[in-house]
Amino acid sequence: MSRLYNVDIIKPNTIFQGFYMCGIMGYTGSLDAAPILLEGLKKLEYRGYDSAGIAVMDKNVISMSKVSGRIAHLCEKTNDGKLFSGHAGIGHTRWATHGAPTDTNAHPHMSNDGKFAVVHNGIIENYLTLRDELKEKGYRFDSQTDTEVVVHLVEMYFEGDFRKAVMKAASRLQGSYALGVLCSDEPDKIIAVREYSPLLIGVGIGDNYFASDVTALVQYTRNVIYLDDGEFAEITKDKITVYDCTGKEINKEINHISWDIQAAEKGGYEHFMLKEIMEQPGAVKATITPRMKDNEIVWDESGLDKLDLKNVNKIVITACGSAYYAGCVGKYVIEELCRIPVQVELASELRYSNPIIDEHTLLIVLSQSGETADTIAAMKECMKRGAKSLSVVNVVGSTIAKIADYTVYTWAGPEIAVATTKGYTTQVSILYLLALWMGKKAGTLDETLYQKLYDNVKMIPKAIQNALDLNPKIPQLAKKYHSSKAMFFIGRNTDYAVSLEGALKMKEISYLHAEAYAAGELKHGTIALIDDHQPVIALCCNSSLQEKTISNIVEVKARGAEVLAVTYKDNSNIISVADDVIYIPQIESILSPVVEIIPLQLLAYYVAKENGCDIDKPKNLAKSVTVE
Ligand code: F6R
Repeated sequence: MSRLYNVDIIKPNTIFQGFYMCGIMGYTGSLDAAPILLEGLKKLEYRGYDSAGIAVMDKNVISMSKVSGRIAHLCEKTNDGKLFSGHAGIGHTRWATHGAPTDTNAHPHMSNDGKFAVVHNGIIENYLTLRDELKEKGYRFDSQTDTEVVVHLVEMYFEGDFRKAVMKAASRLQGSYALGVLCSDEPDKIIAVREYSPLLIGVGIGDNYFASDVTALVQYTRNVIYLDDGEFAEITKDKITVYDCTGKEINKEINHISWDIQAAEKGGYEHFMLKEIMEQPGAVKATITPRMKDNEIVWDESGLDKLDLKNVNKIVITACGSAYYAGCVGKYVIEELCRIPVQVELASELRYSNPIIDEHTLLIVLSQSGETADTIAAMKECMKRGAKSLSVVNVVGSTIAKIADYTVYTWAGPEIAVATTKGYTTQVSILYLLALWMGKKAGTLDETLYQKLYDNVKMIPKAIQNALDLNPKIPQLAKKYHSSKAMFFIGRNTDYAVSLEGALKMKEISYLHAEAYAAGELKHGTIALIDDHQPVIALCCNSSLQEKTISNIVEVKARGAEVLAVTYKDNSNIISVADDVIYIPQIESILSPVVEIIPLQLLAYYVAKENGCDIDKPKNLAKSVTVE
């Protein structure tokens, strides 16, 4: 009889906490603000960033300093903050999303009249509409960021009441945001706002703070107030007042933080990898939501809408490692929905293969870092032959993004663990959007199927959140399987593509020999390796091929294998054949890869933990492979 690990309930109101890209901090008190902000920002460096800045208010004047690059450079430029006087200020470390990592795009952003300054963590989804509206009203935009609309909105709505102006501005914003706002009329006050991005207030004595991340605060205070979505805080040196979204004052509890700084950096998780696994609902949501508007897929910022699909007769996807495996999922999905032939090529092979590519080829390049040497070389080779290139990249302004004709960013935020998790799932999510968009444009996807898939894609963040609820059960499975010498992952079609990534996760962090096989290939050789107690992870989420995979499970069971199956709740057939079963929430089969990888990431993580491995920095591996 199988043990059941059931995760079938999708929680409709799940709010994805704890996912963020930038770091923000604020201080108001009796000391000079700038050195305090700089020290706080240094504590946020571990999360990755590409630019930084501070704004300090002295009497009724706001001054600002911003740099691309390191905080050390900001310290140099401001003489460790000594160039500023003033007892209230805000600071920011930026992980670029909208606009390259330049001095101008760095935060804070200032209103045209110099009265307001804003730092922001999150994504403003409707920034293009708001920007057009504000430009029409005569507001000047200096940066390419989504954030700049916020400060101009505050300026537009200001009629003498700072809090009211911020509340009005916030009511116009769609997306996720944690904001810190200064107003030169009220020199010791900061207003902080939270909606779907973490924000906490640090409670001191004669000094108060806010930050996106507790690490920025613990050197100053361990007493904090967590803001909830829709809440505002008015912070002065002696007083913190919190309001709900209607402007009603509310009482908030003060919590004491006991984490040490290392635990705080990892959000309380033992490793960055686990933190990043848990961030996936938020990362996928941030990646897909701004591109899904009124039942259409929109590519505003990339210009991809201009791509002439009629001119494309073949798609080549190229990448390395996990990104290549994301491409393997993409091949099945694009071919199924768009009926365009798709080749997936390892970049290290493609670059030397004298590829048959011309101006009718669309090249899709997948890369989390945007700096992988083989991927860059393969891309250049294909572009030389006339291919139009579309890159899917997580790091704004990276080499691949710069070279590509079109770039669509995965807004996963910085990935610190060497083994990718949210990088992979956000890449797969973009490939779904591309397939839907191309299928509709090419007329290969009928309206009903398009709508059904569109609605299901919207559900992916919740489905991932739900699959994460497996967490308490996976460690038990890891204890059972961790001492095996080898592990096989099998599946068909999209399940096979996920097996490849599942096996890679297992080998790279646990050092266990793990191999993926197309389930139908077992008989052609590999089944000779199956012996008593050999673990086989069988992926069985592709509904149309489930019967076939079940036959393969029976075959390996008959040779003594121990089978852990991953499938949907309603697949009761699996219970009678597998030794252990993990259920994932029901979702359209073609979309299952982005959900079924979640338990496999967790399994790899906990097996590695059982084996005492250095999970965030596996031996012999680097985060970004910038050499051939
Ligand atoms: C595996 C992993 C690597 C990367 C590969 C490509 O967990 O992270 O296989 O996927 O090195 O890197 P990017 O996506 O930065 O081009």
